[in-house]
Formats: sequence, structure tokens, C-alpha cells
Amino acid sequence: MAEFTLPKNSKLTKGSEYDNSNGSKNSKTFFIYRWNPDDGNQPRIDKFTIDLDECGPMVLDAIIYIKNEIDSSLTFRRSCREGICGSCAMNIDGTNTLACTKSIKSMRKDVKIYPLPHMKVKKDLVPDMNKFYEQYASIKPWLNSDTEAPLNKERLQSKEDREKLDGLYECILCACCSTSCPSYWWNGDKYLGPAALMQSYRWIADSRDDATDERLDELNDSFKLYRCHTIMNCAKTCPKGLNPAKAISEIKKLIVTKDT
Ligand code: SF4
Ligand code: SF4
Ligand code: FES
Repeated sequence: MAEFTLPKNSKLTKGSEYDNSNGSKNSKTFFIYRWNPDDGNQPRIDKFTIDLDECGPMVLDAIIYIKNEIDSSLTFRRSCREGICGSCAMNIDGTNTLACTKSIKSMRKDVKIYPLPHMKVKKDLVPDMNKFYEQYASIKPWLNSDTEAPLNKERLQSKEDREKLDGLYECILCACCSTSCPSYWWNGDKYLGPAALMQSYRWIADSRDDATDERLDELNDSFKLYRCHTIMNCAKTCPKGLNPAKAISEIKKLIVTKDT
């Protein structure tokens, strides 16, 4: 009979319970994934009930309150607190999203918070983003122009060319899309995933960039690009309302046009 060994930090146990609600009618319970690589224990789910009158309106406010007032060891990333830096991406009630823009009121029941799925966990809600950033670097996310930069002024674009970057440049590299993509879950070592591919298209679509052919040749690979099966989880989950699947299909169309 086949034997399956659960990978490290995969077997969830019941954790601690904290009630800081002080009997408030405006309270909420948060179940939060916890794992500390240094203590040798299995991961656990801690339960925190808090008085919402004591914290701000967003899920990140609640997490910060819990860290400040209940358990200072709770570990997570955050920076801007306004949906710009992408660092507070996590799985909240089954959806990858930004904790700082997810309102507590929008969730009627208890809130369940996990790290972004299918990533190695470094601690608690902090995933290992190294591979994701390596993949981003691999698409050469900078302007590659054959001409010298003009002195003391910008490289100009027509209004129409500039508009082609709308829906692309707004990406904050939060990784919500890539970590919701089944193809990325199973082939994340070779498939670039929706975030990196959309970033690549952002440069392909830029009228100031002269490396379009090289970029397309680089992507024309059965794993890097063609693992996208248009499942659309990426567009559904993007907290900035972007559509990486559309960008991926534009890349595929350009490759077909280029090669015919
Ligand atoms: S496309 Fe959306 S979900 Fe994906 S990394 Fe960019 S902002 Fe995040
Ligand atoms: S459309 Fe492509 S990139 Fe987006 S979730 Fe589906 S397989 Fe992944
Ligand atoms: S803290 Fe920057 S996006 Fe949430």
C-alpha cells in the first residue's frame, strides 16, 4: 500500500484561544494560521475574539490589534496600509486578497486567515516569495530601448500608446493571482504564473520598448507560458481588479502572429 507522508507544516492542530471582547456586542472572532519553524511544533489555528470598537475597520487593523494587544509573536507582512505595496496579501475566508483593503464588516461570520496558498511558509502569515521574485526578474521588467535616453526630458508616448498600459501598470505584485492559479500550484517551478506574465506583457505593450521579439521568444515555451489553461482564477481574485488572463492571451496571440 502506498504511504503518504505529509510535508512539514501541513498538519493543522488546535491552537490557543483568546477572548479580548470584554462582552462587547460589536465583537468578531478571527481564526489565524500559526507556524513557527523554530519550535518544532505542527502548525495550529489560534482563535482571537476582539472588540471591533477597539480597532480600525480593515482585516489588517484587526491583525495589528491582535499583535499589539494579545500576541506580539503573530508574524505578517504589511507596509502601506492602503493597497499600494502588495505586502499584506493573504488568504482571507478562502480568497487571496489584501488584508488592508478587506473590510471586516464585509464578512458576516468568523474570519479565517491563512498565508497565500501553495507557497512555502516562513512563519505564520509570511510566505516565501523568493521564487516569485526570481520569476519576476526573469522577464526583465525594465525598459529595453535601442535609443539613447533623451537629455532632461521623458521618452514621450502618444496618448493612445500610453492607454495601452492601462490595466497593466497598476499591478502591485501582491501574488494573489499566481497563488490562486491551479497551473501555478502544480508547475510553479517552471510556469511563470499570471503576475510575471502580465508584467512581461506590460513591457511588450510599451511603445518605448524595442525588445518585443526577444521577450516573445523567451516566453514561447510550453511551461513558462502555455501552462495557462484560462481557468480565470487570477482575474477573479486580483484585489486591483486587473485581468492577467487577458494579458496572457494577448501574449499568445502575438506569438502566433509573429511566427506566421
Ligand atoms: S495582477 Fe493583481 S493579483 Fe496579480 S500580482 Fe498584480 S495586483 Fe496582485
Ligand atoms: S487564466 Fe491562466 S493564469 Fe489565470 S488562473 Fe487560469 S491558468 Fe492561471
Ligand atoms: S499593506 Fe500595502 S497593500 Fe496592504
